[in-house]
Amino acid sequence: MDYLIGIDVGTSGTRAVLFDENLNIISSTSEEYPLYQPQNGYAEQDPEDWAKATIKALKTIMENSGVNKNNVKGIGLSGQMHGLVMLDENNSVIRPAIIWADQRTEKECDEITEKVGKEKLIQITANPALTGFTASKILWVKNNEPENYNRCKHILLPKDYVRFILTGVYATDVSDASGMQLLDVPKRQWSDKILDILEIDKDKLAKVYESPEVTGKIKKSIAEETGLSEDTIVVAGAGDNAAAAIGTGVVTDGSAFTTIGTSGVVYAHSSEVHIDPKGRVHTFCCAVPNAWHIMGVTQAAGLSLKWFKNNIYEGFNPLGEKASYELINKAIEEVEIGSEKLIYLPYLMGERTPHLDPNARGVFFGLSAKHNKKNLARSVMEGVSFSLRDSYEILLEMGLQIDEMMITGGGARSRVWRQMLADIFNCNVRTIESEEGASLGAAILAGVGAGIFESVESACEKHIKKVQKIIPNEKNHEIYNKYYEIYGELYRNLKNSFKKLGKI
Ligand code: XUL
Repeated sequence: MDYLIGIDVGTSGTRAVLFDENLNIISSTSEEYPLYQPQNGYAEQDPEDWAKATIKALKTIMENSGVNKNNVKGIGLSGQMHGLVMLDENNSVIRPAIIWADQRTEKECDEITEKVGKEKLIQITANPALTGFTASKILWVKNNEPENYNRCKHILLPKDYVRFILTGVYATDVSDASGMQLLDVPKRQWSDKILDILEIDKDKLAKVYESPEVTGKIKKSIAEETGLSEDTIVVAGAGDNAAAAIGTGVVTDGSAFTTIGTSGVVYAHSSEVHIDPKGRVHTFCCAVPNAWHIMGVTQAAGLSLKWFKNNIYEGFNPLGEKASYELINKAIEEVEIGSEKLIYLPYLMGERTPHLDPNARGVFFGLSAKHNKKNLARSVMEGVSFSLRDSYEILLEMGLQIDEMMITGGGARSRVWRQMLADIFNCNVRTIESEEGASLGAAILAGVGAGIFESVESACEKHIKKVQKIIPNEKNHEIYNKYYEIYGELYRNLKNSFKKLGKI
């Protein structure tokens, strides 16, 4: 029997899963690490934490599995997108990674738009200049920390830094590279034009591969430390969303998924390049060769509920019970739709789709003395779902066909959240048997690279099993529509106030 490993270098931790060739889980583990927010709007992590977590996780899954190392045929990497890792000439990390959630680069985004031109930028990179993307982060370091910028010899994305530690190779894949805003997304290669205009040296960037391609093998020292063989190949892999698409079987036209992790994503597969001329959703290369995907992003999805759990729910707990997602889910089921006229805007980390506004802030609207922590909890979940509907509506407006919505990520484990999403979208929502999402997708890519599977599509067809189907409730949809309308108005009314607040 052959085996495959999928790794997901996430924001709250790294997950490693060892699968057999039929994609049954043999062993799995997660290792957590901190997120640093030195200032409002900043989000940083230590790349060495990702590397240490990955090595520890690999060691654990190998030890716990009892599998012969020579039968582990391949590793696939997936991870949080957009983060900037800078290495010096000795391959030492120069400064903490500025990650996807960081919003400090509004000025640099204006600089990119001005230098490249809005239309040309969207035409080549398929996206407008965005604070979350890597290019503006590179310019921020150049403008604010010139000594760090001048020392930088290599620029890598989070999972690609981990790859470098595992294999010694500087490589990336088309899906993750799409989120750097330096790739010609329709042509699937670095854009010389954008690099010239932004004066970024191509030699600093990693070599770009299609996701199932082999990029290297495990280094001797890492093989010894983890219990892997030096013959284990590492494929290019994918950004976490493109990998999760494979793990949920979203690899053909008409298929789509929503993920509720730290961030939230609504993602549709497309065999053609579709670009939103207004730039509200992202068009990226997908991990299936010669295909693309279009996705909208809610910056603080699971992050909103986690923030609420840790900072608010916990404090309202008279019995001293530890706040947990189980407790919160139960509480939410006891509250009527609409949280008794309470609406939450989930803009704790600014917002991407559809507002592209780093100044946006979280809001509870409609508070009354009769509200309690249960109403607040439900409104957080509803507000995040309204934000996801904003993305869903844009995908429909762009003419993408969405037959049903797969759901994945931590939020997919909540029964009430699954039904809420079906009701708010007015679309059938489905779960799949495996909850592994991105790590499963990464393992499938490794299987294609190792020659175990013929193609991504055929592996998904054979191994990804859809299970539950959640049908929307028409009456609930009507009620939610009334709240969704006010939800949309609130941002429009508050936009200027957010900006003023940002300037104080
Ligand atoms: C996608 C994005 C997030 C991160 C976090 O554009 O920023 O989904 O990949 O995991």
